[in-house]
Amino acid sequence: MCLPRRAALGLLPLLLLLPPAPEAAKKPTPCQRCRGLVDKFNQGLVDTAKKNFGGGNTAWEEKTLSKYKSSEIRLLEILEGLCESSDFECNQMLEAQEEHLEAWWLQLKNEYPDLFEWFCVKTLKVCCSPGTYGPDCLACQGGSQRPCSGNGHCSGDGSRQGDGSCRCHVGYQGPLCTDCMDGYFSSLRNETHSVCTACDESCKTCSGPTNRDCGECEVGWVLDEGACVDVDECAAETPPCSAAQFCKNANGSYTCEDVDECSLAEKACVRKNENCYNTPGSYVCVCPDGFEETEDACVPPAEAEATEEESLTQLPGHEDL
Ligand SMILES: *[C@@H]1O[C@H](CO)[C@@H](O)[C@H](O)[C@H]1NC(C)=O
Ligand SMILES: *[C@@H]1O[C@H](CO)[C@@H](O)[C@H](O)[C@H]1NC(C)=O
Repeated sequence: MCLPRRAALGLLPLLLLLPPAPEAAKKPTPCQRCRGLVDKFNQGLVDTAKKNFGGGNTAWEEKTLSKYKSSEIRLLEILEGLCESSDFECNQMLEAQEEHLEAWWLQLKNEYPDLFEWFCVKTLKVCCSPGTYGPDCLACQGGSQRPCSGNGHCSGDGSRQGDGSCRCHVGYQGPLCTDCMDGYFSSLRNETHSVCTACDESCKTCSGPTNRDCGECEVGWVLDEGACVDVDECAAETPPCSAAQFCKNANGSYTCEDVDECSLAEKACVRKNENCYNTPGSYVCVCPDGFEETEDACVPPAEAEATEEESLTQLPGHEDL
């Protein structure tokens, strides 16, 4: 009971010393702010879409709804819900950009239906369209349609930052993320697509999915009749574990474990009711709390009391008490 609590307390100073996660602490970029505002605006559009609409389809209702749809009243309702009152920077941005949003709403939204493109990319110039990056919104490596061959992230994608280079997903490498990393093989490759698939765990390199397709065996495996097979480290002439420990072979490795004498098939503690406790390299046999220790058994307290009560009930006149 005591151990986990002590372990948790031991972690506390460490947690306090750790700096906050750098990603989470970063202030949003102007593009992220703009995107946030546009997302909220679009949510506002959804939230107000059915306002003043009774659910029927009378001509009167349709006329009212179509009037409201593009009305300044609806715009004001959307703008009101855009920033939390405590979010100073959001309100500052909104105040500075309110006229842009109003102009788009009243005059430009038919010509430029995508508010993000019009507002964040074309007007404020704080973002780029997806698949483009940097101050001039150039196409990412591999083209803006499928940057990095679809196997990586383009630096600065969608922002006015970055250099357009690729950071490949696990398994891929190369400037366009079309090559396979060691431990992966190319399972599909044509002009536009490249798919890398993981080798069997026994291969360091491979040309296919099984342990017969290895180029080189992974550490802890050896080539045997054309396949990489596990090395049984525990069967070595000088076993890797100490005498007090049990060597357990595993794929590609092994573990040294304390022998748990208490869970062996043949009981380590033989007296009746006795508890067994495993210790490094050995074990101890102990009677449970309150049990009486005798030569060949641990006597439970109930039995001890029962013997006492028996002698009590045999006293004359006991029922009258
Ligand atoms: C390349 O492979 C992908 C994935 O299988 C496929 O969708 C695409 O049509 C192929 N392209 C060509 C040019 O063969
Ligand atoms: C051990 O490796 C072999 C050969 O790669 C594999 O077939 C087997 O499933 C692996 N066993 C475990 C427990 O991972």
